[in-house]
Amino acid sequence: MRAVDIIIKKRDRGELTREEIEFFIQGFVSGDVPDYQASSFAMAVLINGMTPRETTDLTLAMAHSGQMLDLSDVVDLAVDKHSSGGVGDKTSLTVLPTVAACGLPVGKMSGRGLGFSGGTLDKLESIPGYRVDLSIAEFKKQLKEKGIVLTGQSLDLAPADGKLYALRDVTGTVPSIPLIASSIMCKKIAAGAQAIVLDVKTGLGAFMETLDEARVLASLMVDIGRLAGREVVALLSDMNQPLGFAVGNSLEAIEAIETLKGGGPQDFREHCLHVCAHLLVLGKCAKDLAESRVQAEKAIADGSAFEKFRVLVQAQGGDVSFVDDTSKFTRAKFIQVIESPENGSISQIQARSVGEASVILGGGRAKKSDQIDHAVGIMIHHKVGDRVRKGEPLFTIHANDESRLAEVKEMVLGAHSFREGHVAPLPLFYD
Ligand code: URA
Repeated sequence: MRAVDIIIKKRDRGELTREEIEFFIQGFVSGDVPDYQASSFAMAVLINGMTPRETTDLTLAMAHSGQMLDLSDVVDLAVDKHSSGGVGDKTSLTVLPTVAACGLPVGKMSGRGLGFSGGTLDKLESIPGYRVDLSIAEFKKQLKEKGIVLTGQSLDLAPADGKLYALRDVTGTVPSIPLIASSIMCKKIAAGAQAIVLDVKTGLGAFMETLDEARVLASLMVDIGRLAGREVVALLSDMNQPLGFAVGNSLEAIEAIETLKGGGPQDFREHCLHVCAHLLVLGKCAKDLAESRVQAEKAIADGSAFEKFRVLVQAQGGDVSFVDDTSKFTRAKFIQVIESPENGSISQIQARSVGEASVILGGGRAKKSDQIDHAVGIMIHHKVGDRVRKGEPLFTIHANDESRLAEVKEMVLGAHSFREGHVAPLPLFYD
């Protein structure tokens, strides 16, 4: 077999065999298939697509390109969750401790933010000392002893995806349903998850802007998981406006901690409880969603979810005094409250623009090697459907570079649209 023939076959809309896909992925990881051929392959897939069978074969080839984690000696049932990425999405920080407090051990390998979309690791690193580079042995030990782990993706797992994702990011080949589905699922499968809750975001601040696209991606991932012998539930959730109020790393960590303490924004709390409920049912801790929801609510109300987060932070070397007293998080130098320019109901808060504004402040990366500023970001003060009066605080900018304030103010003001009369709030979940 030759890599070029496989690229030509896909270019000409052929259906690749499992052997061809495995040959290509193995060659890519070993270095026999150079980056330019892999980029060309990714573009051919983006343009011509893949059948569900091809996508499953690609997923399994990438999952088997490195170590396959087996957690059966550590937990009875390995559960995992994954969000397809969005703005203000700090869900893992709240959901993991909550389900762990309900008796469901959970270990997760998360990613960093890229572009407008934030990443769990960057949020966690706003807690001084928190380690996100646990080895696989440390991961297993902590999962067994503490029942909770939240760390970075091990380089030994699914290395084909790490290499391919880096190329896709710079060759315009990210927004391809088969490539996204295989990229997400290969990591979950390699990390040993037996039951997975997928939080597939849809809207202006998500990779999948329309509900139809999100539904195709979600059902493809569910099918891949099932074919690989895993139990998978996909939720279609809204990403037209930021989730919660906070966008920016330490601001989001604080919001997640406040939610664990029983406060936090109503939409974010509700979103987390729903994800927790599904995880607890998949993890066989409850017979149905009504029972699991009560368990999750109780874990937040009685302080055990918050206590589990303290355990997690301590186990991974973080300074737990920041969790106990969130006023210790470093604050940005310039905090500017922007007032509403008009009376009316908020009809849109363009999540992507708010995420991009946070990147301009230094809260995200334009390229993987960029350093980020944990303290900066934006607090929105309203959600779609809220009525606001002219002069009322609309959002607050947290900046360390004063020269960025004017640009960010314009961007986030432009992200808000107003309308006369009633506007219905956005749903949290579509399906
Ligand atoms: N998240 C991933 O892990 N991979 C993608 O391709 C897109 C989002």
